[in-house]
Amino acid sequence: MTMSNRTISKVVHWLLLVLTVLLVVTGLGITEYQVITAITFGVLGKAASFKLHLWLWIPFVVVLVAHVLLTTRLFRRRRTAKSDSGGV
Ligand code: HEM
Ligand code: HEM
Repeated sequence: MTMSNRTISKVVHWLLLVLTVLLVVTGLGITEYQVITAITFGVLGKAASFKLHLWLWIPFVVVLVAHVLLTTRLFRRRRTAKSDSGGV
């Protein structure tokens, strides 16, 4: 396994961003389904939104925890010069 910490952090950042957007969109797909159905050209109707929303929180929580562990200095064992952001 040669992937650097920095690469892993980047992948986690993007995954978290995507999951967050999906959660908000599917959440709104339940409450404001008329708007979301129209915007997504019927792809994300109320039923699909509901189904997705009910399990998306699991990967979201996993990735969020990973993100916090990877970015918060408090939890880092040691810093590498390459991935050091210069302070929070
Ligand atoms: C849904 C919630 C969150 C999303 C979507 C999110 C997303 C992101 C993204 C995309 C970056 C990268 C920014 C960049 O590369 O310029 C980032 C950086 C960061 N996030 Fe989050 N984040 C979330 C929650 C949190 C939480 C709860 C914490 C801390 C408790 C946190 C701490 C940080 C830190 C410290 C960085 C900077 C990392 C660095 O530059 O080395 N984030 N976040
Ligand atoms: C980070 C964002 C979010 C997370 C982590 C999240 C997570 C959850 C979870 C865990 C549930 C309970 C599922 C269950 O009953 O098993 C839920 C239900 C629900 N969420 Fe979200 N949610 C988010 C954003 C939103 C947004 C933005 C909306 C809409 C404005 C929304 C609307 C709803 C609705 C309407 C339910 C109830 C579904 C039902 O009737 O049981 N959520 N959400």
